[in-house]
This record gives sequence, C-alpha cells and structure tokens, in this order.
Amino acid sequence: MKILGIETSCDETAAAVVEDGKKVLSNVIYSQIPLHQKTGGVVPEVAAREHILKMLPVLDESLKIAGCDWDDIDAVAITKGPGLISSLLVGTETASVISYVKNKKLIPVQHISGHLYSAWLDCEEDIQLPILTLTVSGGHNELILIKDHFKFEVLGETLDDAAGEAFDKVARLIGLGYPGGPAIAKTAMNGDGKSFALPRAWMGKESLDFSFSGLKTAVWELVEEQKLKGEIDEQFKANLAASFQESVVEVLAGKLLRAYEKYPEVKEVHLVGGVSANLRLREVIQEKFNAQGMPKFRYPKSIQYCTDNAAMIAGAAYFLYQKSPEKFVSKTNVVADLSFDI
Ligand code: KG4
Ligand code: ZN
Repeated sequence: MKILGIETSCDETAAAVVEDGKKVLSNVIYSQIPLHQKTGGVVPEVAAREHILKMLPVLDESLKIAGCDWDDIDAVAITKGPGLISSLLVGTETASVISYVKNKKLIPVQHISGHLYSAWLDCEEDIQLPILTLTVSGGHNELILIKDHFKFEVLGETLDDAAGEAFDKVARLIGLGYPGGPAIAKTAMNGDGKSFALPRAWMGKESLDFSFSGLKTAVWELVEEQKLKGEIDEQFKANLAASFQESVVEVLAGKLLRAYEKYPEVKEVHLVGGVSANLRLREVIQEKFNAQGMPKFRYPKSIQYCTDNAAMIAGAAYFLYQKSPEKFVSKTNVVADLSFDI
C-alpha cells in the first residue's frame, strides 16, 4: 500500500511516499530554518505563508522522486495536530482537496504518533511489540508504552518545556542561533560537561514526568552573572552548552531507564523526535542500560526521520489504516486538531 504523507505542523513543509509503513520511496522536506533564523524562532504567520508557497512544489517533487503518479497512490495521510494552527491548516486543507479531487482515502494522523512510527522507516528487521518509547521534540516530550499498534499509554510527559524547547531557549541565551539543538551539540564538543553544576529535575524517585524550566532558569542566572563579570567568551559558551546538555541527557536517559524498570516486559526501547538526533543522548542511554542488559534499542535510521518529516506520517497512517480500514474513506475533509491526546 503506497501512502502519500503530508506534514506542516511547524516549520517544515514536507511530503513523502511510503510503502507498507516502512519503505520510504521519497521524503521531501523544505525546511524554513533560514527564514526563522532572522527572528531566532518561528513566527507562526511567516511559517504559514511559506507553507502555502512551498506545499505544491514539495508535493510534486515527492511524487516525482517516488516514481509515482496519482494512480499509484492508495491514500493520503495528513498531520491533523498538534502544532501551530495556521501551519496545520495549510496541510489539512491541501489533503482534503486531494481527497475530493483525486478521490483518495484520507488518513488523519496525530503528530506524536507519527514520531513513534519513525523507528519503522527503512527498518528491515521485524520490530517487536510492546515497546517503550521516549519521544523528545521541540513541542512535546513523553514516555510512551506502545502496547500494540495504535494502543498507546502515556507513562510520563513534560510539565513545562519540552527538551528540544529547552535546547532552543538556552542556545538563544548564549547566542548560538536557531535551531538550538544541533548548535548546542556542536558547541558542547569543545566544552567540559562538568564545568557547571546544573540541576537535574528528578522530581522524586518514582516520577516519569519531565521538567526543564528550572534548568533553563539556572542557565539564565549563570549567563547574567558572567555578563556582570565581563565577556561571554567561546570557552564559557562551550562549557555551559556541555554542562546543559549533560543535565538534559542524564535526566532523559535516567527516566527512560526508570520506566524500563517498571515495564521490564517490553521487547524494545525506542528513542524518537528531533532531540533523538543528539549523539550524546544515544550514547548515555546505551551506557545506562548496558550496566543491566538492554533490550533492542532503536532510533530512526536517518537524522531526517528524527526531526519533523512526512515519511513518519505516511508510515503511521499505514498501521492506523490496517487496524480499521473501514474508517477511512475518500472525498472527505479533515479538521485540524490541537489536542495532545494520542
Ligand atoms: O521533532 P521536531 O522536529 O519538532 C517537534 O515536533 O517539535 O524537533 C525539533 C527539536 C528542536 O527543538 C531542535 O533544537 C531539536 O529538535 N534538535 C536537537 C538536535 N537536533 C534537533 N536537540 C538536541 N540535539 C540535536 N542534535
Ligand atoms: Zn515533531
């Protein structure tokens, strides 16, 4: 089954064709990053206008690369939310028009469930359920138990900022630009992660929730102190970036291990979302688990599948469709939905 996926929840205009939930035939991503670098973050109105300009060329390109014409496409999958409403609307309207005009089944997909299925993309092995997944992005941060396809249990979530958002805000504080995640990771390579004793929000011994706002404030205080002392030089930035990264990574990996200890029956542990591109995070997870034996550990096969993309939406749509094909019809429309419920 070939599904054309569309994703416009934030600042990537993306379209992809995926076969049977795994085989990526095309994955076109037009990133608006250079546009948003000027403002140090995404301005929703600006993002929406850019989606309108790029949506149709991106769609054409994804069909062309996949070697498909409309007759080859069995269904259209679309991110229904959560995300920036004006950005989402460009995608949902486009998908609805395609459903009517091209007579295609329409499969609305919740964005976070898309990230969960990014681990299946281009994976040649059989993925075993149940799975414990840590999803870490700019807009959301959860620990999720995948009991069966589209049978999810949220074990923990962020009470304030998501990890990616904290990376972005701290990068901005120390003048590293947007998006903050890759910039912090790169700068941290020249720093010492032990230079600053930053807080770790464990929130008691049992909690599987996250909180990064205290850490962000601690970084802000250090920056202000340094400004009073004099210049914020490259070494200060590198040491602070490394110390911040260590704090985030230790808590994320620690809580993933904590969740695994509560659900040892899981067959696999997955790490997905934009922050899963972080090599230090992958390394620390492996270190922590290896002390006690780790089940199969997977993260997306390509960095392009970590951050927002449409292949994961088409992939998730396949598994959603398989569960109840009768629910998805052609000549219909989808309404954007800001709910975080998966
Ligand atoms: O999944 P994603 O593309 O969008 C949301 O659904 O939110 O995640 C984007 C986030 C941004 O906050 C970005 O800074 C972060 O992922 N990110 C990283 C890295 N690459 C992207 N964070 C840490 N290390 C990275 N290498
Ligand atoms: Zn995302």
